[in-house]
This record gives sequence, structure tokens and C-alpha cells, in this order.
Amino acid sequence: MESILKGKHIVLGITGGIAAYKSVTLLRLLIKAGAEVQVVITPSGKEFITPVTLAALSGKPVVSEFFTANTGEWHSHVDLGLWADLMVIAPATASTIGKMANGIADNMLVTTYLSAKEHVMIAPAMDLDMMAHPSTTRNLATLASYGVEIIEPAAGELASHLVGKGRMEEPEKIFERIESYFSRQCDMQGKRVAITAGPTFEKLDPVRFIGNYSTGKMGFALAEECAERGAEVTLICGPVSLEISHPNIRRINVESAREMLEASKEPFSKADIGIFSAAVADYRPEMRADSKIKREGVDDMTLHLVKNPDIAATLAADKRVDQKFVGFALETDHEHENAVKKLTKKNLDMVVLNSLNDKGAGFGTDTNKITIIRRDGTETTFPLKSKREVARDIIDGLIR
Ligand code: CTP
Repeated sequence: MESILKGKHIVLGITGGIAAYKSVTLLRLLIKAGAEVQVVITPSGKEFITPVTLAALSGKPVVSEFFTANTGEWHSHVDLGLWADLMVIAPATASTIGKMANGIADNMLVTTYLSAKEHVMIAPAMDLDMMAHPSTTRNLATLASYGVEIIEPAAGELASHLVGKGRMEEPEKIFERIESYFSRQCDMQGKRVAITAGPTFEKLDPVRFIGNYSTGKMGFALAEECAERGAEVTLICGPVSLEISHPNIRRINVESAREMLEASKEPFSKADIGIFSAAVADYRPEMRADSKIKREGVDDMTLHLVKNPDIAATLAADKRVDQKFVGFALETDHEHENAVKKLTKKNLDMVVLNSLNDKGAGFGTDTNKITIIRRDGTETTFPLKSKREVARDIIDGLIR
């Protein structure tokens, strides 16, 4: 069978670490699969592996400097960024990771990364103490929030003979991740997805509302993930300050729960996959004042609230057998029991549970820690990940 990598353009970045010798195996696997590979190596990468070996294997001169000294030929990082379908940096040292996270463009590889429009993967490799240093953790989290896919290093014996986390993932595993990236590219082609996201605001008067802390980040990450995998996405979102631009995403802005329900009816009825990630206000003020409520002469006030429609339950009640609907459950106690209840009560196929007891999960953060609970009773718990990676896990769980 023809490899999915055939004809794909890949920039392989190599930096100065012992693991650079493993990049030769990765390069061979990519070439054997029919990919076109342009190696970009940092000056210190050349201390570990020679450009001659890499050029011979890839069939292309290796790029390292901004221009070739004797001919003056300029190497355009912008052109490389446009040419590539994927950029993989393996190994990625602490120094390169730090430069990428902070925009320090002092070599050809980092400049190429900064100009890259394509997906970027990095396979960190360093000593265990460097790996555990807070600056590395912070830089990796920054890169993950930019959408960089991080191929976690394995634990094992390191070049220093110390044993711990920091060893670059094996070339075969990195190759699998590359294959998996390209097969994800088209696995939602022709699918329609509807997603609710963000909070809803329920007006009290022209200047005040009842709302919640949802930022919409999880829903937006899901929309981006689906769109990049080829789906046509309708994103119905409450008031959020996020921007999104992808030709496959149609965004509908709403404010209240009732507006969200109205705007969601048509997209959800046409969707193959429906995702309810909005933090919908369960109640709204019964009365809405037409002019600003004044405080003069009012010492206390009672708000009477009435129930909002349950958007997920309403739309999933008419779900067809060819549709899959997913809900979220943000819980503080009896998490599992409550999530299972929501699954059946709302007629969903899957519930994504996140607990407010988990650090880094829930509202406002760039990360999330989830458990996926399915209709057939099976479930999977994932470690803390960036919201984009969480979105990938949710979609993989739905369509694979
Ligand atoms: N949901 C919805 N409309 C509502 C309330 C919730 O569509 N009025 C959806 C959410 O988008 C989420 C799921 O239902 O996918 C569960 O939301 P959650 O707030 O956890 O559940 P509730 O049913 O509101 O229950 P409670 O707040 O009492 O835990």
C-alpha cells in the first residue's frame, strides 16, 4: 500500500544533542515512505552529525546558515515555510525550545519555525534536570499553546548515564506520529460538525448580566481541530474574546441561552457530529429591566430566576442514529456518577468529564484533564494536556 507520506514536503530540524544520531534513522524512514525532506540543522547540530550524511540520505543540500558563504546564495526561511506540509524538530534541545517559545531568531532553524504556516512537531531531548527545570516546563507549555505538537521524551538512561525523563522518543515512534498527523488531515473530510462554546450572558438590564467564567477556549480548540481535519464547522458561541479564522469555520455569535438554542437548531440538525461545550447559564432573570436599575431608595433586592432551556437535551432528543453528540460535564463532587447521569439524561453518545478538583482543568486555563465516558460504559482517562491536544483526543475517540 502506498504510504500516506508519499510526496509530502517535510522540514526536518536537527539541533545539537546526542540524540541527533537518531535523526538519521528518522530521515531514512521518511525518505523510504516517499516524503521529500529538507534538513535544516543548527550550527551546534553539525557538531553531532555531519551535513554530508544528511544530504546524501535526503538527496538535498542541508540548510544551516542564512546564506552559503562562497556563493552568497540566500536560503529563504519564508519559502521553506511555504514549501513544507509539516515541520519536525528532532531532537529539540532546551536551548532551541527556549528560542522558539520566545522568538529568538538567531539561526536558520528558529527563523524557519517562526515563519512556518504548517503544523510543527518537536521531540525534546535533554538531560533529566534540564527537562525538569521550570523554564523548560514553561517553554513547552507556551509552545503547546501555540499549537506545537510535543512528542514527549521517554524515560530511560541518558547520555549522562543518569536515568530519568529526557531521552528523545525513538525514531520509529516519531515516524508513527508523523503518519498519524497526515492521516488525521483528511479523516473528517465531508463531515459536518456543530459546536456550542463559551458562556451565555443573561441580561438583568441594559448594562448588567448574569454570566460565568467560561472563556470558550475548549470549544474553539475543538472547532480548529475539526476544521483542520477537513470538517465543515459551525461554531455557535456566547460572548468571548477569542478570534478564529479558518475557511471551514462558520461562526455565529449569540448572547443568551435562548439565542444559543435558536441559532443551534439548524446546524445541529444537519451535523454528523454535535459538541456541546458551552457553559450555558442554567437560569435567567425572570424580568429584564428596559432601563438601568437604580440603587437610590433600594436597600435590598431579590432576583427571581427562571430555568433556561437545556440546549444539549433539547437538540439531542431528536438525534438520528447517524449522528453522534458529545457533552461536557464540569463537576466538583460525585464527578463520575453525575457525568454518567448526564450521558443518559441528555441522550448523548459521549461525555467529557473535567473535574474542578484537578489543577489546570476547567475554565480559563490553556490546559485540561479529561475522562471520556462512552455510552457503552467504557471510559478513558487522559493526563493533563493542552486544550488543543485534548480536542484531538476527543475527536480521535469519536471517529476512530
Ligand atoms: N448544557 C446545555 N444547556 C444547558 C445546560 C447545559 O446545553 N442549559 C450542556 C453543556 O454544554 C454540557 C452539558 O450540557 O455539554 C452539561 O452541562 P452542565 O452545566 O455540567 O450540566 P447541567 O445539566 O447544567 O447540570 P448541573 O449544572 O446541575 O451540574
